[in-house]
Amino acid sequence: MTLPTDRRSVFHHLPPDHVGRSLRADVLAGLTASPKTLPSKWFYDERGSGLFEQITELPEYYPTRAEREVLELFAEEIAAASPAEILIELGSGSSRKTPLLLDALKAAGSLRRYVAVDVSESALLDAGNALAPAFPDLELHAVTADFETQLHLLPRQGHRMVAFLGGTIGNFEPAARARFLADIHELLGSAGGSLLLGTDLVKSPRVLVPAYADADGVTADFNRNVLRVLNTELGADFDVEAFEHVAVWRPREEWIEMRLRASRPMRVHLPGVNLDIRFHDGEELRTEISAKFRVGGVAEELQGAGFSVLGQWTDRQNRYALTLADAM
Ligand code: AVJ
Repeated sequence: MTLPTDRRSVFHHLPPDHVGRSLRADVLAGLTASPKTLPSKWFYDERGSGLFEQITELPEYYPTRAEREVLELFAEEIAAASPAEILIELGSGSSRKTPLLLDALKAAGSLRRYVAVDVSESALLDAGNALAPAFPDLELHAVTADFETQLHLLPRQGHRMVAFLGGTIGNFEPAARARFLADIHELLGSAGGSLLLGTDLVKSPRVLVPAYADADGVTADFNRNVLRVLNTELGADFDVEAFEHVAVWRPREEWIEMRLRASRPMRVHLPGVNLDIRFHDGEELRTEISAKFRVGGVAEELQGAGFSVLGQWTDRQNRYALTLADAM
């Protein structure tokens, strides 16, 4: 597993103990709040990332397949509308769908470099090694960074396309989402470029809820994994199996909420943050929001952040949208 050669580089931007420090801050804030919450980014240790990969293959979980379909149908049009020199992918994970974009940008004639940004170095190395043989002329930069707080460390020169796929923008609260889009606009503003944003679309709860509560219980395991992360990283003593997986559609907010419901009264000790907490029987801890969008709403939010929309594309069943927006 040796990514670095002449065209392959790894850049480390995460401060030492970033995970420990920001996990402790998030856990302290979230578990002393009422109702209790935890940010969804803490699902993704190695086990959680593996469970998410499993989720993407479930019959109920359509967004990954729908996004792939949009790219298969329209990557060429997207690349032609914004022929970037540098593709920067935020939260690149396994980079499974990236070749579709890379091929299209290559064909559009300008692509020099792919910058993959993720907090997981192992995911970056695996993804880079899988991609490299198919793109021998491309510079591959793997960047370990927290894209929420470290956008300023990304390339500020050249015509860039920032890809934020998977619908992960839906995990931000609306105010944080507006701030984040404005931050991306600021990053691109310097030398021009575009944002390619993936958003899952509003649809019937009969489709949405099962996507977050699959019959095999993989999503339930993924949800409970955040408690395992706290047990491992903070020495906590959560009885993980005593929490039930809950997925609900909130029609006013138009988001799915995942929660963990205590199946009995519990006391939990978290030595890593010097905290003792109680759960009453049936108490719910919110672990994720996954907002669903309307194409018009996505365009409005991007315009609000200073972008002008170049195009919007959906899959054949209108389940999922990609929006391309120019920063100028
Ligand atoms: C990877 C954040 C887009 O919100 O649909 C999958 C994560 N949560 N099943 C999503 C997730 C439950 C997923 N994202």
